[in-house]
Amino acid sequence: MRDMEEIISSSDISDRVKELGKVLTRAYANRRMFVVGVLNGAFIFTADLVRQIKVPIEVDFVRIASYGSESTSSGNINLTKDIELDVSGKDILIVEDIVDTGQTLYYLKKHLVKRNPASIRVCSFIDKKERREVDVQVDYVGFEISEGFVVGYGLDYAEQYRHYPAVYHLKSV
Ligand code: IMP
Ligand code: MG
Repeated sequence: MRDMEEIISSSDISDRVKELGKVLTRAYANRRMFVVGVLNGAFIFTADLVRQIKVPIEVDFVRIASYGSESTSSGNINLTKDIELDVSGKDILIVEDIVDTGQTLYYLKKHLVKRNPASIRVCSFIDKKERREVDVQVDYVGFEISEGFVVGYGLDYAEQYRHYPAVYHLKSV
């Protein structure tokens, strides 16, 4: 096994997800919430988060592939699965695993705007500002980390470790 150090425990994650659920329930009262989960990384966060939100929600997914090395995204972004439901007039909440350079999110927002939603906001499990390249707003953040490569709770390294229930800093990446 690679050298890993736990940085966010599964109980800290579940406490934070509950708090975010409360914040989002308040923020989206009387609105038509439409969650767009970003596959693959956000599958666990999306599943946990929506169960803490007490307003009616529709849920759909996009899948985005960004071809780079295993630990960086290249900015060469491809939407390989689009949403299939109608979002016009609805309040989109993009649910992401991690925002790093911001390229993926920038691309996705530009794509979804074309569908005429009433609004688009972003909730990311992790915000990692160290390598931000584009100025893109993340409205709701689970945890901020300053640096390093992390895995677990949906996040992978070369498709491994997504199923780990806590978040680990992967050393020597
Ligand atoms: P961005 O386009 O650079 O913001 O990259 C976003 C994507 O890169 C995320 O959705 C992840 O798939 C991947 N990524 C960036 N940093 C990490 C990390 O620390 N661990 C795992 N995946 C990461
Ligand atoms: Mg990834």
